[in-house]
Amino acid sequence: MKSQLVKLPGLVDVHVHLREPGGTQKEDFASGTKAAIAGGYTQILDMPNNTPPTIDLKSLKNKIDLAKGRIYSDLGFNFGGNAQSIEYFPKIYKKAFGLKVYMNQTTGTLLVDKNEEREMIFKYWKSDLPIMVHAEGETVEIAIKLARKFKKRLHVCHITPDQLSSISKARKAGLKISCEVCPHHLFLNQKDEKKLGPLGIMKPHLLTEIEQKKLWQDLDKVDMISTDHAPHTLEEKYDQTAPKFGVPGLETTVPLFFEAISKGKITLKRFIEMTSKNPKTIFKLPKQPQTHVIIETTEPFKISSLNLFTKCNWTPFKNLYGAGKIKKVVLRGKTVFKDGQFIDKPQGKVITPNV
Ligand code: DOR
Ligand code: ZN
Ligand code: ZN
Repeated sequence: MKSQLVKLPGLVDVHVHLREPGGTQKEDFASGTKAAIAGGYTQILDMPNNTPPTIDLKSLKNKIDLAKGRIYSDLGFNFGGNAQSIEYFPKIYKKAFGLKVYMNQTTGTLLVDKNEEREMIFKYWKSDLPIMVHAEGETVEIAIKLARKFKKRLHVCHITPDQLSSISKARKAGLKISCEVCPHHLFLNQKDEKKLGPLGIMKPHLLTEIEQKKLWQDLDKVDMISTDHAPHTLEEKYDQTAPKFGVPGLETTVPLFFEAISKGKITLKRFIEMTSKNPKTIFKLPKQPQTHVIIETTEPFKISSLNLFTKCNWTPFKNLYGAGKIKKVVLRGKTVFKDGQFIDKPQGKVITPNV
């Protein structure tokens, strides 16, 4: 196959964990936004499950201050929903994007498992930006019920195929509901988990081969691709006493999906919808004028953990085939990344929603 240059809008990811503050041995705003740009992402939203969590005005402002002048891609913040954070909702509508509610246990201390607390959060969120739920398996039904009761926009993170019929049903019944799929659930399965060991552990867990196939078949029901970029150091991943959930993903989405495109598993048009058009609309992200990415299509190559910009410096997709490389990234008219090199100082901006 002859290599071709393909121009795409800058990719958008509404679900990344950049780990600053509190986990900068895994990632920080500089390294995480470098990984974003190197992966073709020009606009990303950071999650709130830090130490301390992003659940009040002070912690949100602290993140904004820490990010200024150090970020390579544009960066916005999602806010954490729990009983203590409700009083800050009115103060953050213009500063943060989605409200993230952890309905099941995962990394961090933001678990909201009491129904009264969930009710209060859904009731007092007075923004048209989505409530983003980490709701595994049937927990999604509870989230849908709450969104219906309180008439809120709902975004289901990292869906699994068992959840798609409930989501489609709710959508048909008029609920404003969106959902995202993660590359690790599409490109890896439980068979890989055997080889990967702790590096294949994340929440929700990898799917069976049958579930993975179903997810590909039902891709037309999914609004967007989110990486759930969740770096941990190798030391933390191999720590037998407290294994960590999560895998990095910003730098591998384009090669993996370009391979899938070349195989006819998804169209380029759909990939663009799922990585820029849909997330931009649903999360009211600001426009990025004069911003694009040039991808060079390539012969299939084995993904490696060399030359990654994420501080954790490994990928669960090692040895899988990719077929596209980021040739160039242009942000607001300026080439910021070319042939594996960053050009000039960080050009990213802290962004706020178009509300
Ligand atoms: O695997 C995961 N890692 N799932 C989550 O929900 C959180 C994330 C993290 O922050 O490590
Ligand atoms: Zn999650
Ligand atoms: Zn996450």
